[in-house]
Amino acid sequence: ALVPVILSGGTGSRLWPLSRKAFPKPFVALPDGESLIQKTLRRVIDIKEDAPLLTVTNRDYYFLTRDTFAECARIYGQTVRNVHYLLEPTGRNTTPAMAAAALWAQEVAGPESILLVLPSDHLIHDQKAFAEAVHKAQQLAEQGYLVTFGVTPTGPETGYGYIQKGSALDSGYQVARFVEKPNQSKARDYLDSGDYLWNSGMFCMRADSLLKALQTDAPEVLEAVQAAIVSATRNGDTWELGQEFALAPDISIDYAVMEKAPNVAVVQADFDWNDLGAWSGYGSLMAKDAQGNQVHAPDCVLVDSQNCVVQSPERLTAILGLQDILIVDTPDALLVADRRRDQEVKTIVEKLKARK
Ligand code: GDD
Ligand code: MG
Repeated sequence: ALVPVILSGGTGSRLWPLSRKAFPKPFVALPDGESLIQKTLRRVIDIKEDAPLLTVTNRDYYFLTRDTFAECARIYGQTVRNVHYLLEPTGRNTTPAMAAAALWAQEVAGPESILLVLPSDHLIHDQKAFAEAVHKAQQLAEQGYLVTFGVTPTGPETGYGYIQKGSALDSGYQVARFVEKPNQSKARDYLDSGDYLWNSGMFCMRADSLLKALQTDAPEVLEAVQAAIVSATRNGDTWELGQEFALAPDISIDYAVMEKAPNVAVVQADFDWNDLGAWSGYGSLMAKDAQGNQVHAPDCVLVDSQNCVVQSPERLTAILGLQDILIVDTPDALLVADRRRDQEVKTIVEKLKARK
């Protein structure tokens, strides 16, 4: 059975100060009123209404997640049944989260389970093309591939994984090479070669294929997570993972497995895909004015300014003579930055953490 797994335990630090530790990115209402996790859930229930759905998140976001899902049921007039929660005592990145999902699925959904891993930081509008890609991925996953979804790159972004297509398979390609977050000059080379796709961050794989890959490429993760599953506090649809989880190395699945495993495949995504990882992605939700400014602020005066991103929903905001500046105002924090350095906003969050 196909088991959708929604990952929402990241802190989304590159979207600070909109995304905060107590209220992270997946839960923030976007300019259209819907949050990313709601969009992700809707995408999933459109594919498989009654499948058991797993959400892996930090225990701090448990009630936030439950409330958000309940609200979805109201908005879409559809009760979301069969939702399960796997709660982490502490965030250890995507490898431990996916390892836990695979172990859970084998126990609860059956040994033949296929995981459809979905991060909650994407915008996809073409639901039909998304469903078709999932179908193709599922076929390859059944054959034992660890399947990624590749999107056509549009620039030398350094915040993504790069996938080099290899030989053709029935519904996708073998992956010749996977490189997570290359530096600028490598990203430029990959883009110019025309040979690479961006990793969209969604994955499809049999739970047992993932566990096998972890056994080879990340045994310390698997060991810690296995212990945390054994000692989990199980309460109906909610499992709170044991403290051993904290012993798992903090590493993303891209570095731990995708760069190393021999059986990685890619399905080329024919759908629109937009990552809201950093502020430039968020800006794409807002229309551009004639000067290239993207403004989400009901009361804003811009004079002689170009290519700025302004998010200031609460206050009168005035800007004079600025180019390529990012301004994000919230009730208790203000960010002013060079918009071309939006990937580095997370260093601010790291500094703030260190201050405590
Ligand atoms: N449960 C849980 N626990 N979820 C987590 C954790 C964790 O510790 N850490 C991150 N996540 C969730 C995030 O909430 C997000 O939905 C997803 O996992 C991906 O994590 P990111 O931190 O956003 O990854 P990334 O954007 O740097 O990189 C990934 O996505 C890119 C595309 O958006 C990689 O897969 C790249 O290769 C890819 O290009
Ligand atoms: Mg991301």
